[in-house]
Amino acid sequence: SESISDLLDRLCEIVPDYPQPGISFKDLTPVFADPVGLRRMVDELIAPFEGQFDIVAGLEARGFVLAAAAAYASGKGMLTIRKAGKLPREVYRDEYTLEYGTSCLEVHKDEIAPGTRVLILDDVLATGGTVGSAVRLLQQTGAKIAGVGVVLELDGLGGRAKLPGQQVVSLQVVHS
Ligand code: PRP
Ligand code: MG
Repeated sequence: SESISDLLDRLCEIVPDYPQPGISFKDLTPVFADPVGLRRMVDELIAPFEGQFDIVAGLEARGFVLAAAAAYASGKGMLTIRKAGKLPREVYRDEYTLEYGTSCLEVHKDEIAPGTRVLILDDVLATGGTVGSAVRLLQQTGAKIAGVGVVLELDGLGGRAKLPGQQVVSLQVVHS
């Protein structure tokens, strides 16, 4: 049967000069929209971590698609990690640096107990700013990071190097 890499090559749309000239954007929305694509992505993301996690954390926004499906498929709950100001109750917060300026991830304090094993899922690992922030955020809660799963890992942006000691699984490495 088709490899996950071939499936992603077939379904992923490459958008030239988006969001800026010179950037070639890998659009995963057609994979999300495809019944086989969605199932294969989610199955391949959870398989390496089977038996090693208690909850799946999704990173707003694109990580939510994967994390909700993965949590459902593995019979776990989903932890909602959101950008600043979206969660109504008491939060832990971690600020991270973007190319221009800073952003912030938050999680509700009472949704995760110390020692809980968390699988972090997102669509893309690029500079590692987003996942790195999620790791620090979850460390504040006393949770254990079971691992990190992403669909695409953009090579040469140093993302993996920002996640020392973490088990990072990517379904495809893209030369950017
Ligand atoms: C994108 C992508 C990853 C992140 C990867 O999210 O979904 O979360 O960038 O880049 P990094 O490794 O350099 O942090 P973005 O915040 O752009 O938007 P989203 O809300 O659509 O997920
Ligand atoms: Mg994102």
